[in-house]
Formats: sequence, structure tokens, C-alpha cells
Amino acid sequence: MNTTKPATSVTVTPKSMASPVSAGSRNVDVEIALRAVQDEIEIFPDRPTRVWRFVAETITGPSDAVQPLPDTYLGPILRLRRGQRVRIRFTNDIPDETIVHWHGLHVPAEMDGHPRFVIGRGETYEYEFEVLNRAGTYWYHPHPHQRTGPQVYMGMAGLLLVTDDEEQSFRLPSGEFDVPLVLQDRIFDDQRQFVYLPNGHMDQVMGFLGNTILVNGKPNYRLEVVTRPYRLRVLNGSNSRIYKLAWSDGTPITVIGNDGGLLERPVQKPYVVLGPGERVEIWADFSRYTKGTRVILRSLPFIAPGGMMGRGRGGRMGGGMMGGMRNQGANPPIIGQGESFDVLTIEVTREVKHNALLPNQFAPIHPLPFDEVINASTPRRIVLSMTPMKGWTLNGRTFEMTSVAEDEIVRLNTLEVWDFINAGGRMGMGMEMLPHPMHMHGEQFQVIGREVDPSTRGMWESVKDGFVDEGWKDTVLVMPGERVRVLRRFGDFTGLFLYHCHNLEHEDMGMMRNFEIRN
Ligand code: C2O
Ligand code: CU
Ligand code: CU
Repeated sequence: MNTTKPATSVTVTPKSMASPVSAGSRNVDVEIALRAVQDEIEIFPDRPTRVWRFVAETITGPSDAVQPLPDTYLGPILRLRRGQRVRIRFTNDIPDETIVHWHGLHVPAEMDGHPRFVIGRGETYEYEFEVLNRAGTYWYHPHPHQRTGPQVYMGMAGLLLVTDDEEQSFRLPSGEFDVPLVLQDRIFDDQRQFVYLPNGHMDQVMGFLGNTILVNGKPNYRLEVVTRPYRLRVLNGSNSRIYKLAWSDGTPITVIGNDGGLLERPVQKPYVVLGPGERVEIWADFSRYTKGTRVILRSLPFIAPGGMMGRGRGGRMGGGMMGGMRNQGANPPIIGQGESFDVLTIEVTREVKHNALLPNQFAPIHPLPFDEVINASTPRRIVLSMTPMKGWTLNGRTFEMTSVAEDEIVRLNTLEVWDFINAGGRMGMGMEMLPHPMHMHGEQFQVIGREVDPSTRGMWESVKDGFVDEGWKDTVLVMPGERVRVLRRFGDFTGLFLYHCHNLEHEDMGMMRNFEIRN
């Protein structure tokens, strides 16, 4: 790493001077008015649930740029195309400060929804950017400091799908055969209102886990299909829950894409492990089933420290103090991390003829050139650990709004290797042994290596065959005792960007830092 100056803090332009692009300054291909609102949604038929959510309309551009989803708190699907110039006027109508981040998109720092750009109720933030990303399943969600967990929990999240000519040349299942599946978990009180537990330090250290699995905002999700292939786009939009997805009939999962779009070619996994923030695209072929067949998409058990601590279902019977505390008011009991549960049921309702074939090859994905990496022999080390006073930290530090440390400065247009090191294991209570889904803003990265400490190998073995490390990623699960090495380019835009744990309670407690790209 080339360090130039003695360690100092760097301050960026204050919010008032950040000057979002002024209205009508340039012609754009798409203009969207997006609002965060308070609303009520019938998640259960007997009584509506109060939510906060995104609503949107297209001001100019293709009529399908905004696709509202019926009967859910989820925001509309924003459909963009690579190369488009986009303006999004975001108005905050919730009683809290907020700002919107386009998870996975490579946009200028002022357009990235950094917490320093939060706006108050009634205010508008104007985003303008060009869609530089390749086709893929991205998403948007709030990003205010210390409030991301509760705001996402209240319902603020939506998919942002990018398409391009390359993707369309593969003629993948589209329209009703291209199905978004947003996985989240919640707790409801007896009035059908959301209960968000993490109010105490310990709850936040663990992260939120619910007792009810929602898919696209609905419990007991059923998907009716016909006998043909589908493209299932799965987003883990949960605050803390990790899924180990598998088909109930033992069929391997055919993965065709992940965070940054299609893989080079389809790959088969016995199961897929998806941490908060991660996406996976599945080719699901129901051709060989008959009408009436039911298949369940499950989450299989795995070894997770949160799950072994006596919380959750197991914890009910004489579980530890932690389990007792956390289950207060949760009926049915919380589903512990690593416990098995059903995610959704697929029901074959009709037999059809079709000619959809799984391509055996998508576009080539070139490995980033390792010989251009400027820190190959001394990768940047990001140690994920817990301190009693600060909670979760990155290299012992928690979030600072507008500054970076000397070792968080990156040169524009360079390639670097970063190691995320889950130090774990040293504080005796077990809580420091949690997995952390590490996310970087800006360009997508490539995962080039994983190594695990022998002491946590058992835990790692219970999930390792489900990592989809192929292709482009923006979020990667780092298991306890694991070191994950990623390679990325820091191109195009200077300024402050975030890297953080996407366990939203960890993020809110400060397991987030800026890095600055400098010219
Ligand atoms: Cu999806 Cu910085 O987050
Ligand atoms: Cu992001
Ligand atoms: Cu974390």
C-alpha cells in the first residue's frame, strides 16, 4: 500500500455544499419520482400492518421503468438498461431522516446514498447517474447511519433490475417466467404490527432474527408454476438472516447469476448460501414434474454460533439466558440462525409445451488482471472483530461520517486486493464468532480466495459448498475464522464510498467505514 501522508482524518464537503445536480440540467433517458411513505399493507387478511415503503412513478422514459408490485410493502421494481442516463427525484415523506442507496450500482459518490446525504421529512434529493453496470439483479434501500436496520425492517427495500443487449441475447425466461423472490424475516405482534427487537446492545451484537419468513412481503409464500423453466431472482433482503437454500426433492440448484449479473456459465450447487444483501439467480426447470407436484424451497440447517446459543426453537427448552431474553414476545419462537425452515412452496398447476433451453455458456467473465494489482504482496487487511466497548468493528474502528483513516485511501484507477479477515474466537462468549456479509460500494469485485482457520472449520464445512464465488460480487459472506480475498478495480469516480457488514444491525452499530478514492 502506498501511504503518502501521516495519519490524519480527511473531511469531505459538508452536506449543504454537496449540490445534487439541479433539476432539468441535462436530458435523461429515464426520470423517476420516488417517495418513501408511511402506509398500511394487508400482510395478513385480518388486519393491516403499518409499514414504511417506497412508491414511484415514471416521469419520463419507458413505461416499464417502474413496475409496482401488488399487495406488498416492497418498493416497485425499477427496470433500467445499461447506458441509460437516469434521474431519480427522491422525496422523504417518512417521519425520520433517510437517504436511498442503489446497492451494487457503480455511481458517483454524491449519487450513492451515503449517510452524510440524509434528508429530512418533506425534503427531496435528486440523483442523476448513468447506468454503467452490466445486466443484473440489484436493489435499493435506505442508508441513514444507525437507522438502516429499522427502516429496511419497516419495509423500505426494492429491486432494481438492469438489462442489456448481451443479457437479452440469451433469451432467458422473461415476463411471468422471470420471478423476483425477496427473502426477509419478521416478528409480528398480536395486532399484526412489526416488532423490531434490537434495542439493547446484546441484541444488536447478534442481529435481528424473526419467527416468520416472508417472501415478497408475504408469509407462507406459494408460487404457482407451469411445467417449464423459470428464472428465479433471489435477493436476501433480511436484516441478519443467512439462508442455505435447497430444493426439497434433492435436485441440485442450477445457478446462472449472482450479485453482478450472469455467470460465465451455469453452475450446479447442492445448496446455495445467501447472506444479507447477496443475490442469486436460479434456473428452475419444472418440466419433469406433473400437474399437482409440490416442491419446497428450504433453508437447510448449518452450524452458526447464534443458533447454538440456546436462542430460537431449540432454546425454548431450557436454553440459555440469551434464548429466553430474545424470545420474549415472540410466538412462535424465533427461528435461530442455522435452523432449518421452509422458505416457499412451488406448486405445478398446469402442463405446457415449451422450448426454453438452458444456455451452457453466457458471456465470458475475464479475471481482473492480477499483474496490474498494486498491492499483491501486501493485501489490504480488514479485520472483523468485536470489542466490548464499540461492538463490531473493522480494524478496530467504527463508522465516522466524513473521514477516513490513512489506510483507507485508494488511488483512482488502480486494482487492489483486499482481505476480509473474520478474527473471531477470542472473547469467550461465542458472540464474536458470527458470520459477516461484507459489502463494498462502487464497482463489483471478484472473489479470488478463501482460507479458514482449523478451529472453525466445522462451521465452515456446513456452508462452504453453497458459496457462489463465481462472477462479479458486491457482498461476500465471511464465516468465523475465515479470510476471504477479493480483487477489485477502483475506477471512474473519486470520493467517499462505504464498505461495511450487511448484517444491518452490525452496520447500524458502526461496522462500517468510508474508503476514499483519490486522484
Ligand atoms: Cu446494501 Cu451500503 O448497502
Ligand atoms: Cu451497497
Ligand atoms: Cu457483521
